Amino acid sequence: MNIAIFVSGRGSNLKAILDNHELKNVISVKVVCSDNEKCNAIKIAQSYFVDTFIIPSLNDEEKVNSLIKFLEEKEIELIVLAGFLKLIPNSVVSKFENKIINIHPALLPSFGGKGMYGLNVHKAVFESSAKVSGVTVHFVNSEYDKGKIIAQKCVDISDVKSPEEIADRVLKIEHYLLPYVIKKFAEGKILINNLRVEILD
Ligand code: GRF
Repeated sequence: MNIAIFVSGRGSNLKAILDNHELKNVISVKVVCSDNEKCNAIKIAQSYFVDTFIIPSLNDEEKVNSLIKFLEEKEIELIVLAGFLKLIPNSVVSKFENKIINIHPALLPSFGGKGMYGLNVHKAVFESSAKVSGVTVHFVNSEYDKGKIIAQKCVDISDVKSPEEIADRVLKIEHYLLPYVIKKFAEGKILINNLRVEILD
């Protein structure tokens, strides 16, 4: 399965995907796309000799159309948002309906939405005094963090002393859950039945 990975920052989830042995024979990472050519994730892609593509603007219809054309030419079957900060335009969402997934570092539908990224999420979780947090992988629609939930995994945070500590615990799970969902998707084991997303064994 041909995949494109969209990134904006550090790139640890990108690295987890590229390093995952179980994905080696299942996916081909055709391109890593970013809105930020200077981000660490682009450096990681280059060090793995994966093609990179800098997204010029997602506000300009013509540029978005050329991005769609580019992804179609590469025969992309799944787009993975791995720390991508921009909202995906409607035209991309409808071209790749149920073929775009995102990872969010909290248990949606709480602690999501515009501005809820990076440490902002973990600060909000910390200040709420929640005793569990976790990771959500979900389909992408045209609203931040609102698409159907595919998979979630919890972590106990009842004893944490800082948002950073929550971030560390959550990130460890992210590096497991995102490759897991990608593999299931590639195997055709993610089904949408009525209102729910089901993952087959
Ligand atoms: C992760 O916490 C992910 O859940 C969120 O952005 C962060 C990206 O981290 N969407 P990295 O760039 O993969 O290290």
